[in-house]
Amino acid sequence: MDGIKKDYVFHRDFKKEYPIITHGEGVYLVDEEGKKYLDACSGAVAANLGHGIASIGEAMAEQAKKAAFVHTMRFETKALHELAEKIGKMAPSRLNKVYFTTGGSEANESALKLARQYHRDAGKPQKHLVIGRWQSYHGNTIGSLSAGGDVKRRHVYTPNLLNYAHVYSPYCHRCPYNRQQDDCLAKQNWTCVTDIERVILELGPENVSAFIAEPIVGSQQGAVPPPPGYFEKVRELCDRYDIILIIDEVMTGFGRTGTNFATEQIGIEADIITFGKGVSAGYAPLAGMIVHDRLIDGLTQNSDGKFVHGYTYSGHPVAVAAGLAALDVYEHERVLENVKEQGNYLFDRLLELKKKHSYISDVRGRGLLIGIELVKDRECDELFDPSEKAAETLNAIAMELGAVFYPGTGSIDGIKGEHLIISPPLTVTKPELDEIVRMLDESLILFKGRLRKDETYEITK
Ligand SMILES: Cc1ncc(COP(=O)(O)O)c(C=O)c1O
Repeated sequence: MDGIKKDYVFHRDFKKEYPIITHGEGVYLVDEEGKKYLDACSGAVAANLGHGIASIGEAMAEQAKKAAFVHTMRFETKALHELAEKIGKMAPSRLNKVYFTTGGSEANESALKLARQYHRDAGKPQKHLVIGRWQSYHGNTIGSLSAGGDVKRRHVYTPNLLNYAHVYSPYCHRCPYNRQQDDCLAKQNWTCVTDIERVILELGPENVSAFIAEPIVGSQQGAVPPPPGYFEKVRELCDRYDIILIIDEVMTGFGRTGTNFATEQIGIEADIITFGKGVSAGYAPLAGMIVHDRLIDGLTQNSDGKFVHGYTYSGHPVAVAAGLAALDVYEHERVLENVKEQGNYLFDRLLELKKKHSYISDVRGRGLLIGIELVKDRECDELFDPSEKAAETLNAIAMELGAVFYPGTGSIDGIKGEHLIISPPLTVTKPELDEIVRMLDESLILFKGRLRKDETYEITK
């Protein structure tokens, strides 16, 4: 146990020191030394309304005092019905039934299982395989990890993973198929789509149950939106081969990208939307899936009304009370309007920063989910070696200065490709965005000094 801290926590990284946070207010978190951190990534793109909102805490306490737990196999609560109705009404018109879980991984796990049960009970028992995309993340449970394509999270568990297939997601800035977006659009010939069909035919459509994708790729690629028209083509393929289309909105849902769900922007209707994070704005572990009427019809007609699945904490009363109170804040604070306004402003400020720093090779994203790609030298497109841990180092510097971003690696091919996500609470103000950009600018200057091993490099240089 040499070098291991003497406490009882199973830390994320036993070799790291973690500040102890005592409280938060708005976009700031404060540690026990009194140091303030500007939360420029809403934790893990979850604390979407910022910290310290009393009304959400009070709603949770009220519910806990009334009925803290009921088992959804036998009882339901009013809060459960109210939240399901609100979410059902926010979702596209034919997605109406809401199933709750405690986290996004469980939400995707549930969606994959529902797709399988739907096909099996409809007389297609062979349909069980899932197609996911490389450089996408759907969670850390075995099913969701198998569907995702995050090489670094998968490789330890490769022998345990399910035999699911993967295609590349369209990263047009560095197309994995070596195509140019303009050419794909002009010729309407998309390798990233024809590859999906190739995989479906290779596996045999009779074996394929679901296709799962993030509408805007979050943690793994750093806020990469799809090219226009991509998801329409994916939808056509799913319809042609009777494949359930699961759109993972765990990161993008609840206003993060400027609309309630990002699927509104990509112009398609999913069969299942999974959600998490923003639904309770991080105040309680809450996630779930919104299910299309045709799957519910299938359940009632072919499955005796039952989804063979469930968790002890599905629809936990205190968690759904948090969700209800959070949705009230979204509404009253006019969050969607703020995301549109501040998202445009932040995007422009980051484009300015790109001009100043040749480490930034791309700025992308939607609403307040914005990513920057980091390279060693933009002019000659020299990439960082993964061993340099560029994104993590840059974020560590920012944390010293008092700002937290969401660093990621492997965005290009699972190993190479460094990025940082900037995703502040959706209630962020312009002066707070200016502060974020100033701290990122200063972090990049200090980062340059560290790369050059020049400890005297200062912010004024
Ligand atoms: C798109 C996406 N799906 C699923 C998950 C997994 O959610 P959770 O960590 O709540 O299990 C995440 C988490 O970051 C995510 O970003």
